[in-house]
Amino acid sequence: MTSISNVSPALRRIWHPVGRVDSFGHTPTRIELVGEGYVLVRLDGQLRAFLDVCPHRFARLSDGAVIDDTIRCPYHGWQFSAEGRCAHVPALGDDATLPPARLTAPHVKEAYGLLWIAPAEPITDILTIAEWDDPSLDKVWVPPVDVAAGAAQIVDNFLDFAHFPFVHAGTFGSDKDRLVSDYSTERTSDGWGFVVEHPHVIENHEDPLVASGEHPLVQPRDMRYDFRVPFTANLRLFLPLTGMVNAIVLWCQPMNASTTRVHMVMIRNDTQTDADRQAAIDYELAIFTEDRRIIERLPSTEIPLDRGQVHIRSDRHTVEFRRILQRLVESTD
Ligand code: FES
Ligand SMILES: [Fe+2]
Repeated sequence: MTSISNVSPALRRIWHPVGRVDSFGHTPTRIELVGEGYVLVRLDGQLRAFLDVCPHRFARLSDGAVIDDTIRCPYHGWQFSAEGRCAHVPALGDDATLPPARLTAPHVKEAYGLLWIAPAEPITDILTIAEWDDPSLDKVWVPPVDVAAGAAQIVDNFLDFAHFPFVHAGTFGSDKDRLVSDYSTERTSDGWGFVVEHPHVIENHEDPLVASGEHPLVQPRDMRYDFRVPFTANLRLFLPLTGMVNAIVLWCQPMNASTTRVHMVMIRNDTQTDADRQAAIDYELAIFTEDRRIIERLPSTEIPLDRGQVHIRSDRHTVEFRRILQRLVESTD
């Protein structure tokens, strides 16, 4: 049986988000990705990433300090340059011949306000977010959330249609949405993602005209998901009755075998003030909390990709999701 976990080796050859670029300052910061620690630090004015392991006795560099544009290990004070070269060893004194010790650097880039790391040569690029540059839309970042589940489980849940009336009965789920109408998924040309569209109904508790009786509580909603391997999905919501557009982008960072950090931004047209934005964040977090109650109690943080689970017609796109992950896992076997 093929399965995927947060530490599957194939994930090393993929770009992953590790945090908002502006959240990393001048102090060394540790992040975790695919079971390894990395130190992020600004040296020579640029954000750098290294494996958080000193080559001498393996101490955590993130517990060290920045001195003269080098990072200094907290254990024996070795200093490493912005290029990761050993620049000073106190125990050898000045002008000594330095050991050929070098820090390990992953691939790093910035995109969509996030810093991305690929531990090894990446085999695909990240999802293009069409709404990102639309000036009529507002970007509302949800604070990152650490979840005790696998990234694949979180994306599987994010893509899933049939749980809304049950899991989200306290937020937007409607009893009128139990039957999942037929739909189709379309693979992207490179085979590493898909698009799926699904019109359905919700209870719209965000619409102020519901309270005044001008709009019904149960309203139609169009959903369009763009999924890209391994753990990114952009869910574009459109409510024809109110004209609301909200593209919810979910990027998962598989930290270690049991924890995933979720980065999320809403790109929407109905938030004008900070109060609007906060209300939108609170509402999204309430929905996410409902999902966590299910996914944090699944029996394992891995998901099987080829067999071992029962699928029905309304799981068509989450089966497609498994096939794409299976292709990824098997590509580096
Ligand atoms: S472990 Fe880093 S300097 Fe010794
Ligand atoms: Fe959900």
